[in-house]
Amino acid sequence: MTTEWIPAALSSDLPRGGVMASVCGTLEVAVWRSASGRVAAWVDRCPHRGMRLSHGFVRGEMLSCIYHGWRFDGAGRCRKIPAHPDLDPPETIRTQSLACLDAQGVIWIASEAPAVAPPDLGNVVPLRSLTFEAGIDAVAAMTGEVPDRSLLRLDAHGPVPPLVLLLQALGPGRSAVHALAAPTGTGALVAASRALEDFRRRTEAQGIAA
Ligand code: FES
Repeated sequence: MTTEWIPAALSSDLPRGGVMASVCGTLEVAVWRSASGRVAAWVDRCPHRGMRLSHGFVRGEMLSCIYHGWRFDGAGRCRKIPAHPDLDPPETIRTQSLACLDAQGVIWIASEAPAVAPPDLGNVVPLRSLTFEAGIDAVAAMTGEVPDRSLLRLDAHGPVPPLVLLLQALGPGRSAVHALAAPTGTGALVAASRALEDFRRRTEAQGIAA
C-alpha cells in the first residue's frame, strides 16, 4: 500500500480518451482520462474475468473492458453488461479504485488518498518521461540528492534549465523518471531532453559497473 502520491505520468502523455498501464508500488494499474478530461486509476484487472483494463477503451465518461465490453463509470462502478442489455448491474460490481489526481502537469496516484497534497514543483513545464534500467535509489544517488518524496532536482549546467525529476519505481532495478523543466525556449528544452538522456546513460552505466 502506498501512503504517498506516486507520479504515474506527465499529464500531457494521457490525452482525453486515453488509457495507459502504470505501477503504484506493487500494484499494476490502469490510468485513463475521460472525454471531459477526468482522470481515474484502477487496479489493472477487470472484475469480470481479469482482463487488463489498460487494454480497454474510453467511451465518453466510461471505460469499456476489451474482453466482453463491461462498461465502468469514473467511480469504477459497472454500468453496462452488453450480454445482458436490460440488466442494471448490481452496485457491487466495480473496479478496485485508487486515488488519482491531475495536478501541476503530473498524474499522481496512491492506493489510498494521502492526507497531504503532492509536493509543490514550482514554476515548471512538462519535459518528458523516460524509463531507466535502474532503481530509484540508484537514480537518486546519481543526482547526489536523498529522495524526498521521490522529488529530485538535477542541475545540468550551461544553457540547460534545471530539471525537476519525479521518480516512480516500476520494479526491481527499474524506474520511470518524469521530468519537468523551468519554462524556457524550445532550444533549451531540446537541450534539457538530451541532458536527461545523458543522465540516463550515466546512471545505467553506473549500475553495470557496480
Ligand atoms: S473480462 Fe472484462 S468484461 Fe469480461
